[in-house]
Amino acid sequence: MTPSDVKATLSFSDGSPSMDLPMFKGSIGPDVIDIRKLYAQTGKFTYDPGFLSTASCQSTITYIDGDKGELLYRGYPIEQLATNCDFLDTCYLLLYGELPNVQQQADFKKLVTTHTMVNEQMQFFLRGFRRDAHPMAVMTGLVGALSAFYHDSTDINNPKHREIAAIRLIAKMPTLVAMAYKYGIGQPYMYPKNSLSYSANFMRMMFATPCEEYEPNDVLVRAIDRIFILHADHEQNASTSTVRLCGSSGTNPFAAIAAGVACLWGPAHGGANEAALNMLEEIQRNGGVEKIGEFIKQVKDKNSNVKLMGFGHRVYKNYDPRAKLMRETCHEVLGALGLGNDPLFKLAMALEKIALEDEYFVARKLYPNVDFYSGIVQRAIGIPVSLFTAIFALARTVGWIAQLNEMIGDPEYKIGRPRQLYHGSPRRDVKPISQR
Ligand code: ACO
Repeated sequence: MTPSDVKATLSFSDGSPSMDLPMFKGSIGPDVIDIRKLYAQTGKFTYDPGFLSTASCQSTITYIDGDKGELLYRGYPIEQLATNCDFLDTCYLLLYGELPNVQQQADFKKLVTTHTMVNEQMQFFLRGFRRDAHPMAVMTGLVGALSAFYHDSTDINNPKHREIAAIRLIAKMPTLVAMAYKYGIGQPYMYPKNSLSYSANFMRMMFATPCEEYEPNDVLVRAIDRIFILHADHEQNASTSTVRLCGSSGTNPFAAIAAGVACLWGPAHGGANEAALNMLEEIQRNGGVEKIGEFIKQVKDKNSNVKLMGFGHRVYKNYDPRAKLMRETCHEVLGALGLGNDPLFKLAMALEKIALEDEYFVARKLYPNVDFYSGIVQRAIGIPVSLFTAIFALARTVGWIAQLNEMIGDPEYKIGRPRQLYHGSPRRDVKPISQR
């Protein structure tokens, strides 16, 4: 870490001695005030529920400038990666810090490809689930279960184990998501076909059957690959912080990633793409574009508890750069499928326009996030709404792993252990039950 010339001074109005706090500079972005010695020297904690002002770690992987609406993976703008690279290039970049050259690209593809199959026993494990189980419930179980199948890569402190666990997770997630889908609809599983690209292989495992030849559609493969790139990492969000916290106890990588999958499921995080599409469908059912005004009124009513799903972000106070790319992909996919007049897409664009001009959204800097359009793209591809968050988990797995590995390699890492402001009863004695 680069120390800053500036020091922060913390003073107290009750005459307690003040304290100088060192500061560190990032390569870009805000400086941080180092409060690690604060408790030892003052007996006081800081209070920051939701981590609004707290950097929980140092990282070299992803940078977000929320005011500018900028997202960089290892310094590269997301727009350039989404246009010039594929998902496996992006995985390589996130894991190793640089984009691959031709040889590294070929080697990495081969390495991932040779791990796409899952232990045959996994399908019997999957069979224990109800067919109508939510795919994220299934994925939480399946990913956690990987640690029971791959004992030779469960030591988080062994770099070789971490490397092989990383490749296994990236390679097997598409297979597991497709298996969860096929199980839900009662179709036979399709084994991976390693002559295909990562994303074409996923499309085949999802949509092919053993009865017919399957020819992946290039536009749709490119769209799903872009969805993977855009969701691959996003700095210290809730699920990534969950993975880091879980991994900080020394648990195995599969267990830590399963914790990330569980966290991602929530509607304020990865579940928002499902919630956004459900919201659009409901507005459509209730009258469509004509009813947008009424819906926006509800959203602005604090007592209604209705939110415009796919809008707003903890960090972006500008248009989410991923949402722009997703909107572009949406046009491309709907065009290729002859769905240019898709009513849900038209509704989404009308809703976006109205919201972006409305004082409520302008004042709160609420802009569309990546989930606003990704649901429409996935639905057009044929992915059922309930599977959206599982696709997100598939894509985010590489980010979780890169962040986990970075944490383990950081000499300053410790088990995560936040403190609290206690508001409960002071010490008291247990009374006999007759006196309570
Ligand atoms: N619709 C209506 N109002 C909103 C929305 C929304 N989508 N998002 C925020 N607001 C309002 C809040 O009510 C609050 O208003 P107030 O100041 O009058 O009380 C203000 O904007 C600030 O919102 P917070 O909830 O404090 O913002 P926070 O940073 O905590 O929340 C979050 C961010 C959770 C993403 C929120 O915007 C939200 O719930 N959005 C909808 C869900 C969604 O799309 N999530 C996807 C996130 S991206 C991802 O995970 C890939």
